[in-house]
Amino acid sequence: MTMTNGYSPADAERLSDKERSLIERRERLLGPAYRLFYERPLHTVRGEGVWLYDEQGRQYLDAYNNVASVGHCHPRVVEAIARQAAVLNTHTRYLQEGILDYAEDLLGTFPAELSQVMFTCTGSEANDLALRIARHHTGGSGVIVTRFAYHGVTGDISELSPALGSGITLPAHARTVRAPDAYRLGAENVARLLAEDVRAAIADLRAHGIKPAALLVDGIFASDGVFAGPAGLLAEAVAVARAEGLLYIADEVQSGFARTGEHMWGFQRHGVQPDLVTLGKPMGNGQPIAGVVARPQVLESFGRSVRYFNTFGGNPVSCAAGQAVLDVIRDEGLQQRSERLGSYLREGFQRLARRHELIGDVRGAGLFLGVELVADRATKAPAAAQTRRVVNAMRERGVLISAAGPQENILKIRPLLAFQQAHADLLIETLDAALGEVAG
Ligand SMILES: Cc1ncc(COP(=O)(O)O)c(C=O)c1O
Repeated sequence: MTMTNGYSPADAERLSDKERSLIERRERLLGPAYRLFYERPLHTVRGEGVWLYDEQGRQYLDAYNNVASVGHCHPRVVEAIARQAAVLNTHTRYLQEGILDYAEDLLGTFPAELSQVMFTCTGSEANDLALRIARHHTGGSGVIVTRFAYHGVTGDISELSPALGSGITLPAHARTVRAPDAYRLGAENVARLLAEDVRAAIADLRAHGIKPAALLVDGIFASDGVFAGPAGLLAEAVAVARAEGLLYIADEVQSGFARTGEHMWGFQRHGVQPDLVTLGKPMGNGQPIAGVVARPQVLESFGRSVRYFNTFGGNPVSCAAGQAVLDVIRDEGLQQRSERLGSYLREGFQRLARRHELIGDVRGAGLFLGVELVADRATKAPAAAQTRRVVNAMRERGVLISAAGPQENILKIRPLLAFQQAHADLLIETLDAALGEVAG
């Protein structure tokens, strides 16, 4: 997978002996497939709230990691994990109440029709399971995803993740559609274009003798470049898919758990009703827990004919972490904060756009923000090299963000939901300085 914001051996000269030796050890022990962020990779040793700390004790404002969403090492999550780990940690083949209490609470955040949940450990597994369920239910195999989608790492799902790079070959049963890039395609057009693309993809699958099973979409189109609006843009495409007998799988691994502000779940911004919803990342604030939420009718035949067991999925410690995360989101008003600080940051970035020509577009929902950098506002030519420099200049100044999109020219900014206004101010000031440095 290409990664503009990645470390390359060409950057080794700037590193300390210790950093070079850690990198050498990683490559020797972990092999060549892993990537590190930043020209000068960060050696993190500790996290607390919105901060990560390196070996020298320097602090970094975390505006990137959407896993430790309620704050690094949040005391309530840590306490819940430790308490449950000290009592019992088994699996779902015994009667236990914790998993049921958590399932009830979690499902209570969904529309009433989505009333059952199956637990996995990762978002990839959740998408894999959702796809199996959709195929079983529809009797089809075809899947529609966006052109630069990322949905995970299992065999089936990595093939549906073109963002993994040129090593991925789209299988015969998959079709891609354009992401709703309102900046380039026009906000007034994206809903219609997406629906047209989905209709054409379905027709093409059928023309090749492939029965379509599912439309699988990340509600914030993160890897495609962060496309949040206009709200409602998914409705037409989902209606087309549904009318043609496909299931709509909402991948909420990125956009779920209050990240997009106005609602708990990203699909709710678009006024659509999924058949299956996949969850992950922030669900346990770092404890591996993920899952598939479903309409019971969709689970029915799969559940009757296929036995499901996932050794670690839904274990008591993970459920305790998940419960603590839900409690913290509610008790600390994090959804409201995501909405409020998200607007505050977008306004701040728009102010920066008046002074920094590099900024072509500011977008996002809640605390999932994209700032697209262009070499020329008229042609919208992607400014990938400058994006890399801005991300690294931010890192040097102690604020962590990254880049997204096929050209990796979109600053991907996902502050922890635990951000306060002062942290948002620091993020805006630092971006101002980094843009100034790169332009100068
Ligand atoms: C939209 C989306 N879906 C699924 C996944 C896969 O989740 P995991 O890495 O937990 O397997 C990711 C991970 O980045 C993701 O961004």
